[in-house]
Order: sequence, then C-alpha cells, then structure tokens
Amino acid sequence: MQALYTCSHCDSQYAKWQGQCDECQKWGTIQESGQEAGQKPAELKSVSKPSSSSRISVGMNEFENVLGGGLVRGSIVLLAGDPGIGKSTLVLQIVHGFQSKTNQPLAGNSKQVLYICGEESAEQIGLRMDRLKVSGDNIRFAGVVDIKSIINTIQKHKPDLVIIDSIQTIADSSIASEPGSITQIRATTAQLMQIAKSTNIPIIIIGHVTKEGSVAGPQVLAHMVDVVLYLEGDKLHQYRLLRSTKNRFGPTNQVGVFSMQDSGLIEVKNPSQLFLEGGGAQNSGSVVSVIMEGLRPFLIEIQALTNKTSYGYPKRATSGFDLSRLELLIAVLQRRGGLKLDNQDVFLNIVGGLRVKDPALDLAACLSIASSLSNQAMPKKSVVIGELGLAGEIRPVSHVDLRISESSRLGFTELKNIKNIEQALKVLNIGK
Ligand code: TYD
Ligand code: MG
Repeated sequence: MQALYTCSHCDSQYAKWQGQCDECQKWGTIQESGQEAGQKPAELKSVSKPSSSSRISVGMNEFENVLGGGLVRGSIVLLAGDPGIGKSTLVLQIVHGFQSKTNQPLAGNSKQVLYICGEESAEQIGLRMDRLKVSGDNIRFAGVVDIKSIINTIQKHKPDLVIIDSIQTIADSSIASEPGSITQIRATTAQLMQIAKSTNIPIIIIGHVTKEGSVAGPQVLAHMVDVVLYLEGDKLHQYRLLRSTKNRFGPTNQVGVFSMQDSGLIEVKNPSQLFLEGGGAQNSGSVVSVIMEGLRPFLIEIQALTNKTSYGYPKRATSGFDLSRLELLIAVLQRRGGLKLDNQDVFLNIVGGLRVKDPALDLAACLSIASSLSNQAMPKKSVVIGELGLAGEIRPVSHVDLRISESSRLGFTELKNIKNIEQALKVLNIGK
C-alpha cells in the first residue's frame, strides 16, 4: 500500500509530497490523503473502450465533431461558458436531437431525459422550449438542488440522459458550505460521476465561468469530468465557438461553430463566410487573413485606422487583438519598414467580434496599418499570412497548407515571395 497525496485546492494527486501543486501552482496545499488500496490491476485487453456503438448520436454534427462522435454512455461532459452565452439553449437543442434519433433505442423506444434546473423555473425553460420548438415529451424537469434527491431520482427513473443546469446551484446538505463553493462542487460532481459510471447514463453538467475565467473554482471540475467543452463568443455578436479542452474519448482542441439566431443555435458549415461579412477587403485599411481554430482554418478580416494624433501621445487601441502585440508590430513597422507612426493614432479591429491570438495574423495586421496610412487598398482577393520577427522577417506559421487551401476554396490567393516587412510594404508601393 502506498500513501497518496492530494492538493486541497484542485484535487490533483501525487505519489510523493511536494511543496507546490503542479496543476494549480498553489503552495502548501498538498496533504496526505490516505492509502491507495492495493488492487489487482485489470489486464488492458479486458478493459472495455468506448466503441462507436457505445456512442449516442445527438443529431448535431458540429457538436458531435467536437466530442469526437456522439455522447459516450456513462460519461460526464462539462459544458462551460460565460453566463448568457447560450449553454442552456445548446443543451435543449441536444436533448431534442437526442430524442429524435430513434434509431438507437435504449430503454424502450422513447428516450427519457431528466433535466435538473436549479438555475431557472420550469416555466422559464418552457418558454425557451417554445422558442426553440422543442417538445417537452419525455423530458422530466426537477427543480431540486439537493444532490441526494437528484441521485435518488436518477436511480428511480433510470433516464437515458441527465442534464444538470447548473452545477453551481447543486448542494450536498450534509456539507456545511454554500452551493457553488469548491467543496460543494467537488462533492456533488464526485457523486454524479459515480452514478454515471454505475448506471452507464451520460450526464451533461453546465458550469458558469467565473470572472477569473475558471469554471466554478480553479480547475476543480475539469479534473473530475471526462470531457470539458467551452462555449465562447461575444454576446453582442452572433457567432459561438464550442471548443473541447479535455476529452477522454477523443481528440481535444476541436472547434464547432454556431450562430445564435432567434430560433436557437444554428450550425455554421462555412465559418469563413460568417467572418468575412462584406466579402472581405475592399477598402484601404482592410486585409483578409486566415486563422486556425483547432484544425479548422477560417478566413477573417482585419481592419486598421490610422489618424493623426491631435495632442499628447499617440493612441493605440484594439478590438479582438492583443494590444501589446500591436505595439510591438508598430515598432517593427517603424524601425524595419520605415513607416512614420509616432504621430499617428492606430486602431485595429477584427471584424465580427472574434478574439484572435494566432500569431499568423501579424503580417496582416501590419499591412492593414500600412494600407490605412497610405490610403491604398490591398490587391483584390489577396490573403496575407505570416508571423513577424523583431528583425522584420516573416516566420513560417502552423498548418500553412490548410490555410492556403481554405483561401483558394473561397477564391483568395496568398501574396507570394514575401520574406520580410520591407518586401510586404512594396505590395502597397510604400516603405523604405
Ligand atoms: P441561455 O441559453 O439562457 O444562456 P446560458 O444558459 O449560457 O446562461 O441563452 C442566453 C441568451 O441567448 C439570451 O440572452 C437570449 C439568447 N437566445 C437567442 O438569441 N435565441 C434563442 O433561441 C434563445 C433560446 C436564446
Ligand atoms: Mg442557463
């Protein structure tokens, strides 16, 4: 028997004691947590793996692609995201797709769904269902928030799918701690995990992302569940990205694209068209580039506006782009490209409300600034891809073939033979 050490903050486990937790970086939180029971290990070939038959279709391709197939029986999926981003909407649509897939009967023919709604009243959910045209047949709503009665209900009714909306509202009354606290979340999720595994029922847990960007306490949930999905987007814009950051049954970093409409979330099969709203790059200051989200290339448009500074320091502002990266690119444009920007305000915007971190956008950002400054438009149907080094050199980017084939699919061509920022500026007949 071997001692086991657990971090009291994030639940990571270690074979030896250490001062700092590798996962959550907290100091002094690792304590001995009892003995690991000596168990006879099972042979690998006798351990069952999820086969395609143990996956249940939910009738939504974008969602299933992110999962790497349908929902795995007995698995726990965490659906995380900002409040109001559309998690409850997505889940109801999944329930609908799950029930209309009659080709895989589980218990009898009609699939029962248990929807635990601690967040909203059944009336509120009813209104949303009307809007989404989801029928309430075979969905049982329970407004209970006590984990013991949730477990009892699952055992009694044996539903085919359980939805917990949201984990922050569920509590174990035997624990003296507020619902939503780390202790409660850990305790209730552990019990859900157990019931999912013992009954083979899949459970989808909704979790709100807190201001600090973590799902209900630092990584607590992510460690425990099988799959972690994030629903992201900008509430003022239509698009939503569904991203997998953990998946015990499939690849991670898969991305699904949806558009939020009056009738709910619509799958977007051709994301480039969504982000290239006006067909892309007609005016000066506007450049088309290709970003990667997971393994999916999207064409996007980047816009810059330069304007003479009227007093004081020149202003730099961005939307959807890292401000310090912009400042660095401006320095490269000045020193290596010979552009005069020290008396110019520079504003940079990613069209469509997308937030982009892909360094392959560097060159496009630089050219959009140069294009605005010189008041010259880029060549028609051109796409610009490239990371920029401090010496003004263009660096290779990841998945360049995927990016180029997506561009040509939409009739765009990459600017060729550009090795550095000086050559890039020649496209606009400016620079040194
Ligand atoms: P919701 O799913 O309630 O968000 P969450 O569960 O993540 O908190 O959806 C929030 C927003 O989505 C709400 O402001 C209204 C909007 N919405 C639509 O635009 N269309 C729809 O069909 C629905 C149901 C909601
Ligand atoms: Mg909700």
